[in-house]
Amino acid sequence: MSGLFITIEGIECVGKSTNAKFISQYLQKKKIKSHISREPGGTKVGEKIRNILLFENQESISPTAELMLLFAARDSHINEVIKPKLSQGTWVICDRFTDASFAYQGYGRELGFDAVNSIKQMVLKDFEPNLTLLLDAPLHVIKSRRKLNPDDRFESEKDEFFNRIRSGYLEMAKKYKKRIKVIDASRPIKEVQIDIKEQLNELIRL
Ligand code: TMP
Repeated sequence: MSGLFITIEGIECVGKSTNAKFISQYLQKKKIKSHISREPGGTKVGEKIRNILLFENQESISPTAELMLLFAARDSHINEVIKPKLSQGTWVICDRFTDASFAYQGYGRELGFDAVNSIKQMVLKDFEPNLTLLLDAPLHVIKSRRKLNPDDRFESEKDEFFNRIRSGYLEMAKKYKKRIKVIDASRPIKEVQIDIKEQLNELIRL
C-alpha cells in the first residue's frame, strides 16, 4: 500500500496553503488519509533551515549556498517524513517541492537548470511527485492580494526576480506536461478549486 505525493507550486500569495487544506479535506471526503507539509521545512531541521533561508539578515547567502541548504532540508524531509508517510498509505500534500528550486534558484537566482538538476539527481534519484499543481497568476494580481514582507529574503526581491520565477515555472510545466498541471489562480477561489478537484479525481481514478 502506497500513498500518492501531490505538490503545490507557484509564486508567493497564489493560494498554495489554502488549497493544500482544501485538497486534504477533499481527500478526506473520499476516505483518503493525507498529511500536509511544506518546503523549506517539514522537519525540525528543515524548519531551522527555513528560518535561515527566509530571515538571515546579518550575512549574505550565495545562490549556491541557498540551493544546497534547500536540498539539505529536502533530503531530511523526504527520508524522515514524505517516504515513511507514503509507505503507510498516507497521501502527502506538499506546499512547494523541487520545482520551486528550479524556478527560484535555477531561473530566479539564475543558477540554471543543469545546476539544480545535478543536485536533484543526487538527492531525489527517481523520486518524483505523482501530481504537481502549478497555481499561476501574474505579479500584479499577487501584489493586489497581499503586501510582500520586506524582511523576507525572497519576498523583498524585485519584480524581475518574480517574473523570471513565473516564466521558469511555466517552462517546467511545458517540459513535464504529464506531471505538472497549470491552474489559472488569478480567478476566484471557487473556480480554482473546481479545476483542482478535476485533477484530484483523475489521480484517484488511476
Ligand atoms: P513560502 O513557502 O512561505 O512561500 O516561503 C518559502 C520561500 O522559499 C519562498 O519565497 C520560495 C522559497 N523557496 C525557494 O527559493 N526554493 C525552494 O526550493 C523552495 C522550496 C522554496
